[in-house]
Amino acid sequence: MCHNHGVTYIEPGVVEVHSIEYPKLALGDRKCEHGVILQIVSTNICGSDQHMVRGRTTAPTGLVLGHEITGLVIEAGRDVEFIKPGDLVSVPFNIACGRCRNCKAGQTGICLNVNPSRPGAAYGYVDMGGWVGGQAEYVMVPYADFNLLKFPDKDQAMAKIRDLTLLSDIFPTGYHGAVSAGVGPGSIVYVAGAGPVGLACAASCHLLGAAVVIVGDLIPERLEQARSFGCEVVDLRKETPLTQQIAEIVGVPEVDSAVDCVGFEARGHGVDAGTEHPATVLNAAMMVTRAGGAIGIPGLYVTGDPGAREEAAKEGSLSIRIGLGWAKSHAFYTGQCPVMKYHRPLMNAILYDKIQIAKAVNVEVISLDQAPQGYRDFDKGAAKKFVIDPHGMIPN
Ligand SMILES: NC(=O)c1ccc[n+]([C@@H]2O[C@H](COP(=O)([O-])OP(=O)(O)OC[C@H]3O[C@@H](n4cnc5c(N)ncnc54)[C@H](O)[C@@H]3O)[C@@H](O)[C@H]2O)c1
Ligand SMILES: [Zn+2]
Ligand SMILES: [Zn+2]
Repeated sequence: MCHNHGVTYIEPGVVEVHSIEYPKLALGDRKCEHGVILQIVSTNICGSDQHMVRGRTTAPTGLVLGHEITGLVIEAGRDVEFIKPGDLVSVPFNIACGRCRNCKAGQTGICLNVNPSRPGAAYGYVDMGGWVGGQAEYVMVPYADFNLLKFPDKDQAMAKIRDLTLLSDIFPTGYHGAVSAGVGPGSIVYVAGAGPVGLACAASCHLLGAAVVIVGDLIPERLEQARSFGCEVVDLRKETPLTQQIAEIVGVPEVDSAVDCVGFEARGHGVDAGTEHPATVLNAAMMVTRAGGAIGIPGLYVTGDPGAREEAAKEGSLSIRIGLGWAKSHAFYTGQCPVMKYHRPLMNAILYDKIQIAKAVNVEVISLDQAPQGYRDFDKGAAKKFVIDPHGMIPN
């Protein structure tokens, strides 16, 4: 039998690389003849993983992490018709059946058939259906014909793998945040968060033709990274209110669109920067978005947060000033990004050099053994997107 190793969640603050089972075309006693086994070429660490690793979810010990997967097909199940062994593919982090009413409507983030406990599933994630994660050497991907995006040319793809690896999640997610906030030519946008999702969103705003993209965070190195590809920045540690900092850049204290690329572990602004205020970004977005504007919310909010400071927040209830959003007729868009809606056009944007997404998020390639250190550095706020290369296949 073949061996396999994967990044395993042990306890808050601790992940380790363990020997794990080689994947089968099955999930428990559910057969997956529609699936494939992938040899993983690249698999990225995500801010979504950090919520689990910080002990802010109900993730069980022993969970194999990893939902951002790119790989080579090495075995295909009996019912796979169009994907073949040898294909190099990007895997959307959402697992989708392609058969339910939501999948048929393009809402692959809330597929009805892949998770017995709620709509929507992902690899290696708490409450997301029990599918084994892909920060590993090998992984099983179900419904392969529907889910996988095959790269047209393997050599060309390997040469751009640092960019293409971002198609499994953060590039489509950042882009979706921008699209759902109504960003288009000439837009003035506020992006909250300069982590990899915020940076991918900011770069996507440029791709969509935004006139000004203002990125806010509390980590200077991450703001510097945003500035490196043409964004304006606001430092939220300052006591100057966000509205005033925005006015100093664009002349008025408001924007057309705002995107929350932070989620529920948000820190307060100014004097509150040392503590968590889970509704801060949502309230700030309503404050700065003009009447009639839209707010994209890819940042993650949970239904259970054992680490919340307030009782209500332990069940995901936050103090959101919805009256303000109502008064300004804001549109809100939440939820998992339906990756499949965007991954093919964004692949072409990479292949035809319309965007330098790996440069924007500052990709750093590491080995599987270095993953625990990657998690620690990312948690400290490194201005990097860590990409694990489990088989040493990524060219220098
Ligand atoms: N919807 C989806 O499909 C989807 C997909 C991927 C990631 N996500 C979520 O997107 C969020 C961002 O992911 P990431 O990988 O960039 O994570 P990250 O933790 O690296 O980045 C979050 C950034 O927000 C900053 N921040 C904290 N409080 C802030 C505030 N009040 N205002 C502005 N910035 C603030 C932090 O300093 C940090 O740099 C996470 O919640 C993640 O779970 C959602
Ligand atoms: Zn992710
Ligand atoms: Zn479905």
